[in-house]
Amino acid sequence: MTHDIRLGYLGFEVRSLAAWEPFAVDVLGLQVSGRDAQSLDLRCDDRATRFFLTEGRADDVTVFGWEVDDGPALDALVAHLRAGGVDLTAGTDEEARRRRVTRLVKLRDPAGHPLEVFHGGDRAPAPFASAKLVSSFVTGEQGLGHVVVSAPDPGRSMAFYRDRLGFRLSDRITCEIHGYPVDVTFFHGSPRHHSVAIGGPHRKRVHHFMVEVASMDDVGLAFDRALRSGVRITQTLGRHPNDRMFSFYAKTPSGFHFEYGWGARTVDDATWKPTTYDHISEWGHQPPEFLAPRDPRDALPSTTEKTHDHTTGSGGEVRRDR
Ligand SMILES: [Fe+2]
Repeated sequence: MTHDIRLGYLGFEVRSLAAWEPFAVDVLGLQVSGRDAQSLDLRCDDRATRFFLTEGRADDVTVFGWEVDDGPALDALVAHLRAGGVDLTAGTDEEARRRRVTRLVKLRDPAGHPLEVFHGGDRAPAPFASAKLVSSFVTGEQGLGHVVVSAPDPGRSMAFYRDRLGFRLSDRITCEIHGYPVDVTFFHGSPRHHSVAIGGPHRKRVHHFMVEVASMDDVGLAFDRALRSGVRITQTLGRHPNDRMFSFYAKTPSGFHFEYGWGARTVDDATWKPTTYDHISEWGHQPPEFLAPRDPRDALPSTTEKTHDHTTGSGGEVRRDR
């Protein structure tokens, strides 16, 4: 079956909503769409809500929301999943209201991740507004962005996303990075180059989620905001060979990563030919700790100086022995 399926929303359970709110608004450039003592809802476009955060100990993704076009598309996918032996539960009206969608069904992928497939995302009553962005987030038919999901059995997870949910192969990257083997396969269900990628197990349910902005400057501005806010940059600015995304990676307050990108190419199923790449970046995407260390002789004239490492947010001492 061929239908469009795209990332519609994400739910996170986070240890500190108080840490997430300024991170989401001031670093990512998202807009608060709902807030109470136990929850924080965030938007990034004309949809009512795209991120559902609750406070708790998990510090992880609690739900992946996958969107199809309409009710008949949801019915067809449900029938296909049931025929494939996938356990499904219909979401209640209350659950659909909470997600701000028309209808949803709940299921788990082979890694046990909670998924919801839905249609009919509510529109927000007012246009999206961010004090941080000079452009906008790229969503629409491409959906919210992409996720690299943890998969202890990559073969089973890939078969599930492809054969059960209907994602199509985009391409694959196999290489070695800093001595570690990397083998990631990328899948699309819409013009977005990939909405889900699978490479193996991760400490959290995702390695990262990605949001895309419509201007290169917005990536640079977000990079500066991350540095100034003490957010830990995990990969510097760089460009991927497969989706052509210009992006950087950093850690969320919950420990999983985000990618902030611009300029990705889209996929047309009529002409797309999957490729295997032997490198994960054309350039850049370096861990900051691999950059040239500062020469201690450049330090200010004192025997011991306190410094602040913007990439880790931790203070350190630089000894001047020379
Ligand atoms: Fe990514």
